[in-house]
Amino acid sequence: MADKKRGMFITFEGGEGTGKSTQVRMLCEAFAEAGITAIATREPGGTPEAERIRDLLVQRDGGDYDALTEALLLFAGRREHVVKKIIPALEKGEWVVSDRFADSTRAMQGDGMGLNKQVIENLYGMTAGDLKPDLTIVLDIDPVEGLARSAQKTQSTQNKRVAQEDRYERMSVDFHRRLRQGFLNIAETDPQRCIVIDAAQTPEAVHKQVVDAVSQRLNVSLKAVKYG
Ligand code: TMP
Repeated sequence: MADKKRGMFITFEGGEGTGKSTQVRMLCEAFAEAGITAIATREPGGTPEAERIRDLLVQRDGGDYDALTEALLLFAGRREHVVKKIIPALEKGEWVVSDRFADSTRAMQGDGMGLNKQVIENLYGMTAGDLKPDLTIVLDIDPVEGLARSAQKTQSTQNKRVAQEDRYERMSVDFHRRLRQGFLNIAETDPQRCIVIDAAQTPEAVHKQVVDAVSQRLNVSLKAVKYG
């Protein structure tokens, strides 16, 4: 079989209530319309084993971990996700769009919880090796607005498990401000890989900017899809 061109790896990052999952879904629809096979995935999670680790971390009663323990759990899940899902898909020529990846650990466990940044990079090297997103889209919003949006979403869901996924949302606004700054710093330090988009805009307007960024930076021709 002829070698297939490796797929591209795109990540969405940002605070709570920035609309990442909506943007992941719309971008994958735009890829489908353009005839590009793309899979949507998420972290924590993405494989059955990593989804079990996710529950420990995001559920209200999941536990109370020290920052390094939390990072070890996250990287254990990430390892499963990377070796069993992300790399095999990229090698098949599929594109992968992930709702969060390692920048979330840098911002949340690093800037938010004070874990040493070098420890995070060491864990990254051990578990993900050379894998690096080709493009990272940071969705940025004021944390007060983002947390309000996120609370509304959690309250309106009928799914009990999803309704309890608020362990991080319950942390202080100060914590969420540190995260926002953390994500902005990552984007500033690595402008080749990252782009920041204002998430206070409508989902359609954000999607349009996402489609433009992906088209320009990854050399594809995408058209925006309808919201809803
Ligand atoms: P979600 O609500 O965006 O699905 O993400 C679940 C939570 O997990 C979110 O509050 C951020 C948190 N998280 C970390 O703290 N570190 C990480 O590395 C990842 C991937 C997520």
